[in-house]
Amino acid sequence: MATFFVDRAEHMAASGGFLRSVAEGQGGVLVIQGEQGIGKSALLREIVRSGGQASGDEPECRFVQARCLDRIGTENAYGPIVDILTLLQPPRRSFLRRLGRSTVNAAPELVSLVPTLGPLLKTAAQVVQSAIDSPSAQPDSMAPLMQSVARAVAGALEDAAADGGPTVIVLDDVQWLDPSSLLVLEHFVERLYDTELSIGVILGCRSGPGNEVGAVPEALARWELAGWCTRSRLAGLPHDAVETLVQQHHSGPVAASLSARVSELTKGHPVFVTQCLRMVGANGDLQGPLPDTVGPLIRRRLSGLDEETLDLLIIGATQGETFDSVVVAKVSGHPVDRVAGRLHQLSRRQGLVQSVPPPAWAQDESADYYCFENALLHMAVLDERSAGQARDGHGRIAAALAGEGAEHAELSIPVRLEIARHYRLAHRWDDAARTQFALARELAVSGMSFSEAEALSKQAVESTRKLSAAAEDRDLRLARAIELLLSLTEARWQGRPGAAETTDLEAHAQEAEDAARRSGDAEMIVRALLMHGRVLLKTKGLQPCLEKLQDAVRLAQEGSDPALLFAARSAYGGQLTKRDLATGLREQLEAEEQYEHGLAQHDAKDRVRHVLNISSELQLGVNLFDAGYLDRAKDRLSRCVERLRHDPVNNNLPVALNYLSQLHIAMGSEDEASDALREAREFDERLGGASGWHAYNTALLALVLSHGPHAPGQRHRSRSLIEEAWRETEHTWLLDLVPIVRNLYAEVVMNISGNDPDDLAFGIRLTAETVRETSRTGMVRSEVAALSLQSRLRLKQRNAAEAGRLARAAVEILDEVGDLPALRTEEVLHHAAVALRAAGCEDEADGLARRAREEVTRKANLIDSLTDRERFLRDVPLNRAILGSDAQA
Ligand SMILES: Nc1ncnc2c1ncn2[C@@H]1O[C@H](COP(=O)(O)OP(=O)(O)OP(=O)(O)O)[C@@H](O)[C@H]1O
Ligand SMILES: [Mg+2]
Repeated sequence: MATFFVDRAEHMAASGGFLRSVAEGQGGVLVIQGEQGIGKSALLREIVRSGGQASGDEPECRFVQARCLDRIGTENAYGPIVDILTLLQPPRRSFLRRLGRSTVNAAPELVSLVPTLGPLLKTAAQVVQSAIDSPSAQPDSMAPLMQSVARAVAGALEDAAADGGPTVIVLDDVQWLDPSSLLVLEHFVERLYDTELSIGVILGCRSGPGNEVGAVPEALARWELAGWCTRSRLAGLPHDAVETLVQQHHSGPVAASLSARVSELTKGHPVFVTQCLRMVGANGDLQGPLPDTVGPLIRRRLSGLDEETLDLLIIGATQGETFDSVVVAKVSGHPVDRVAGRLHQLSRRQGLVQSVPPPAWAQDESADYYCFENALLHMAVLDERSAGQARDGHGRIAAALAGEGAEHAELSIPVRLEIARHYRLAHRWDDAARTQFALARELAVSGMSFSEAEALSKQAVESTRKLSAAAEDRDLRLARAIELLLSLTEARWQGRPGAAETTDLEAHAQEAEDAARRSGDAEMIVRALLMHGRVLLKTKGLQPCLEKLQDAVRLAQEGSDPALLFAARSAYGGQLTKRDLATGLREQLEAEEQYEHGLAQHDAKDRVRHVLNISSELQLGVNLFDAGYLDRAKDRLSRCVERLRHDPVNNNLPVALNYLSQLHIAMGSEDEASDALREAREFDERLGGASGWHAYNTALLALVLSHGPHAPGQRHRSRSLIEEAWRETEHTWLLDLVPIVRNLYAEVVMNISGNDPDDLAFGIRLTAETVRETSRTGMVRSEVAALSLQSRLRLKQRNAAEAGRLARAAVEILDEVGDLPALRTEEVLHHAAVALRAAGCEDEADGLARRAREEVTRKANLIDSLTDRERFLRDVPLNRAILGSDAQA
């Protein structure tokens, strides 16, 4: 260990400037990068040391230091953030008691440190639990949830740091940063850039082979590009710095050529230099010939150890870069005090390891904690074991950490992550799989650590696959682990044909189904089929999906679980509406009735919440609307909106408001539609960032404004809104929403164009693009809408023949597939009638106009409330046009 710090003048000057600007309220981020052993940690320590001695005109900053963990760091959700928050403010234990157990288990410290997270996580835990437990969930709420949590934690970090003068947070080894902490840091770093704060962040990050790709290097590159951080790289020490080190290391006279030889050999690489210095003997010169890499030097240091000490060191290395005397004693079979004594002597005499304070999650207060002098030394000790010895060692360490028959759930997350890691390295697949699965579930259900949960569920799948066919419940466990993995990634599936992700998804879904069938567990089979159906919908389309879902319904019908049957039927019914609206809707309504009826006799109360989730309620509401049950749809959708307004996890609110506003438009209440759309837009704007649904809602608002008689100002506003909506759609590119918003764009332009030829031509280009795109994506609904719009635009261009041709094409598709969701059949028919009449096809036009009238009357008759029915017939301009005329205008 070199005790003196040398050189790095340039970096010290830069950090001095950085600290001054922090003190002046111009916070920011400084990143120190460099390869293993180049001196990042030493530099960070020196920055803190010299900053702490500031005097006179030097700035005074408070320093808070933390580091990420080797090996388990990337799975240790929020680990370093918790450490930093704890140093900034003491935890408030009382908050723990008010929260649900699962949340507390997975994130006790964080919740106590960030009080605002409490209510958010409590509901989040329910949402996520239902998303991963319910066989029909659409866990679209997870990603925004992560963002909300990250924002809340970043806010707490800012408050805690801002409260106590200029503060510098020093975080080392961020190459092992967990994704959750990264998300928090990202928000935090952006704030530092946008706002004048006396807060600085200094990060140490290992670069070089093995550390060039991944989320952290990508984030750092992004931050640098955005101007959020400054990065600097460390190189080897210059010759005079090595010379100083040599002189300071050895008190007596040294050989004249020593520092030149060390400097040349090591290229000034600090860790190599320090190992060389260890080899300087009493005569002031290196003992023995010099190897030209650092490895043999380190091994030479190990060869001086006696057998027992080397054994202890190997056990320690097997535990990790940081290890403790109690675990080493347990594994070695020696008495604890003897081991403690040996390790203490080792650290005093040979160096090699150094005593460190116990980590926050230390299990045994009486244990001494050590860490290796450097990472290379740690690796060299690990290399002393054979593969079999390594496995055996990891197995014993896992057992020592887990304790005799102790409940894992009582242990802290980092310890359990360590246990899982050691089981995996011991090839104890059964124990590994159990620990990984339990951790994955718990992290997910805590509502805030999805990325880590995903990584662990992936490990659980791999471990379970390795179990022998005879292992207890192997297949059931495999199916469960895959189901968990898939449900955690579902919000991200894209299903692009041929993509590796797509093949993986299908293979996973098939594997889960096969495993479930082998297990014979009826519930698991149904769940696996439902999951498989959802995968196929993304990768292969509706038909294969419906087949799977139908299988699931059939199987669920044989069983006696009403909740499961409901899940299967409503999932099937929901998808079926895409092809056959009426039958799909009937299936969903019957499923609900059957479920409520069955529930009376079945004790499944605790699952009600899981199954009757807001997503299926929304789905049913919008399907009722599509099928023309307008007032029943209004009841449901209003109920959803009301519920979401009071729900802390309410990211579906803009979707619910979108459906409700469409319904208001369909019922002639455009003012109410505008109100709903404004609320939806404001909701998303508060969250910030581009959103596909915000764009859709903006487009609908533009449409409402484009209706009826308009003042020039309103026309202008409508146009700027629709342009804004389209820009945001191009940016977010949600596949389902793109053609819808593009069609709305064309419609708004048409409504406000006043027959301007450029506008009409532009509208035609937009709709033509949609027709081209839908022939590829198979989104029939948007194709019909685009054809119908294009026909209207052509008519405005006085090209009746082309208008007629397009109108016919639209109706032809409609006749083939029947009513379509979110498309008013009567609208297509009416405009087709107008176009064909203009083209001189009177009979055809008469027929279509009659069908449009029938459709409006049919929908009116489905409305129970008299006032609503009257309003539907009187206040909707389209309906008035259809009923009031024979489609002349
Ligand atoms: N400027 C310096 N002056 C004196 N000693 C130094 C200097 N830089 C590094 N060292 C010594 O070199 C060794 C390796 O340095 P350090 O642990 O800081 O490297 P690191 O870049 O943090 O490595 P890792 O990537 O493994 O975290 C340590 O023993 C350290 O004390
Ligand atoms: Mg380091």
